[in-house]
Amino acid sequence: MNVLDIRGLTKKFGDFVAVDNMSLTVREGEIFGFLGANGAGKSTTINMISSLLRPTSGEIRILEKDIMKQSRFAKMNLGIVPQDLAIYEDMTAYENVSFFAGLYGLRGEKLKERTEEALEFVGLSDKAKNFPKNFSGGMKRRLNIACAIAHKPKLIIMDEPTVGIDPQSRNYILTSVRKLNESGCTIIYTSHYMEEVEEICSRIAIVDHGKIIAEGTKEQLKSTITDVKDIRIELKTVQGTEGELLKPVPGVRTVHQEDNVIRVHSDAAVDNLNRMLKQLMDAGKEIRSVEEQEPNLESVFLTLTGRNLRD
Ligand SMILES: Nc1ncnc2c1ncn2[C@@H]1O[C@H](COP(=O)(O)OP(=O)(O)O)[C@@H](O)[C@H]1O
Ligand SMILES: [Mg+2]
Repeated sequence: MNVLDIRGLTKKFGDFVAVDNMSLTVREGEIFGFLGANGAGKSTTINMISSLLRPTSGEIRILEKDIMKQSRFAKMNLGIVPQDLAIYEDMTAYENVSFFAGLYGLRGEKLKERTEEALEFVGLSDKAKNFPKNFSGGMKRRLNIACAIAHKPKLIIMDEPTVGIDPQSRNYILTSVRKLNESGCTIIYTSHYMEEVEEICSRIAIVDHGKIIAEGTKEQLKSTITDVKDIRIELKTVQGTEGELLKPVPGVRTVHQEDNVIRVHSDAAVDNLNRMLKQLMDAGKEIRSVEEQEPNLESVFLTLTGRNLRD
């Protein structure tokens, strides 16, 4: 069964086309990755799926029912974890979850049970009586997730749930995504972090300028890359600008430096490794290690768009 079907979806803001004739199918049981740089149109798409925004044109079906024609059905089967936190700071964690679950018609014992269950699921049971204003970013995110899952939707869409949180909460969230999926939920996981998407998603769509430019399992996507090599150079000591030295080398497409590690994407066909190392050595840089790496989703994105996902 298709949990989500999008056909020819378009959203214009004035003359600007944020989502451009997008079509997409997500099947039951998937953890589907929606990967794209900032501004690609991910949140706009999600806001249309959750009926917060009206499409300019196109169709959206949830569990094979049109969301415009059967809006209540769509709402009951959908859980959205929005990019911008949607929690009330002046209500306790328990009251927040209970409030959102109540919007889906849960009442009495059942409401209490589901609220407790959702808080337990995100590891906030012991904070039930606390106010989120004193929570860390990661705890607020987890509360946001609890609010979206208490009514047990079939499809959960998470919009960049790990932006700006500590690594521990990030791992907690990734683990909860897997657990929710094992319990029968279909998940759409939106991110601009390709490592996360690679780690947890069974299928991935890469979005750019409102269009899906590639779709498949990570193996399928990577197998399309034959013309780029990905080289990692580790230096002993750095100023942080050494990567610049490599940009003029023939064949080099992009250079990324984080501390003492430089990542170079280059045309696979150009034999330029010696040239790169010479550039660094001539400038008096000491090289600790050099290795060629497997292509990743970043290489896929680069090959398709000529840009880095992170830039
Ligand atoms: N309400 C709006 N009015 C005008 N432009 C918008 C509006 N919402 C989003 N956009 C633009 O649409 C593009 C896609 O935005 P968004 O869907 O938020 O991207 P993403 O979630 O992938 O980072 C961006 O260029 C953004 O500036
Ligand atoms: Mg967004």
